[in-house]
Amino acid sequence: MRLAVLLSGRGSNFASIHEAIAKGRLDAEIAAVISNRADAPGIQRARDWGYDARVIDNRQFPNRAAHESEIRKVLDEARPDIIVMAGYMRLLSATFVAAWMNRIVNIHPSLLPSFPGVDAQAQALAHGVKVTGCTVHFVDEGLDAGPIIVQRTVEVRDDDSVETLSARILEQEHIAYVDALRILAAGNYVIEGRRVRRMK
Ligand code: GRF
Repeated sequence: MRLAVLLSGRGSNFASIHEAIAKGRLDAEIAAVISNRADAPGIQRARDWGYDARVIDNRQFPNRAAHESEIRKVLDEARPDIIVMAGYMRLLSATFVAAWMNRIVNIHPSLLPSFPGVDAQAQALAHGVKVTGCTVHFVDEGLDAGPIIVQRTVEVRDDDSVETLSARILEQEHIAYVDALRILAAGNYVIEGRRVRRMK
C-alpha cells in the first residue's frame, strides 16, 4: 500500500506511521510527504528520513483550486493508494475529495460526531464529557465527517487541562492511525453507507 502524507505541523502521527512501517508493523510505503507550510517540523522529519518531501505553500497560490492542482501533480507522480491527512490544516475541495473517494483518511482528536472542527479537546472539556478520544475516518465533503474506521477512547480527568488531555489523546491517535492503516492495507473491509465493516 502506497501512502501520501499531507501535514501542516508537528507530524507526530506521520512519525508513528513511519515507525510502524520501519519496524514491520505496517505493510506500507510512504511515497510522498506534502506540507502546506515550509516551517512544519513534520516536513523536516520527512527530509531527515529520506522521503520525497514537498512544501506546497497555499499562500503562494491565488485560490484553493490552483493549490490543489499543484498537490495533484505530486500525487500523480507518487501514485499513492491512500492519502493520509496527518494534521493537515486545510479543507480539501469537493472536487479533490470526489477524485479520491474512499481513498483519503484523516484523524481527529475527538469521538466523532462529537466536537468536529478546531480545538476538539477544548470543546470536549468545555462540554464536560467524561470520555473522549480520537477517530480515524474516510474523508468526504463534510467537515470531519465520512465513514469511521477506528476510534479509541480516553477518560477525561477532573484535573485535566487542554494540554494534559490532548497529550493522552495523542498517544491513542498514534495507535489508532496505524491500526486503521493496517485495516486498509489488509483490504478486507467494506464501506456500507457510513459503516466500515471488516470481513472475516
Ligand atoms: C492531531 O491532534 C490530529 O488529531 C489533528 O491534528 C493533530 C496533528 O498532530 N488532526 P501531529 O502533527 O500529527 O503531531
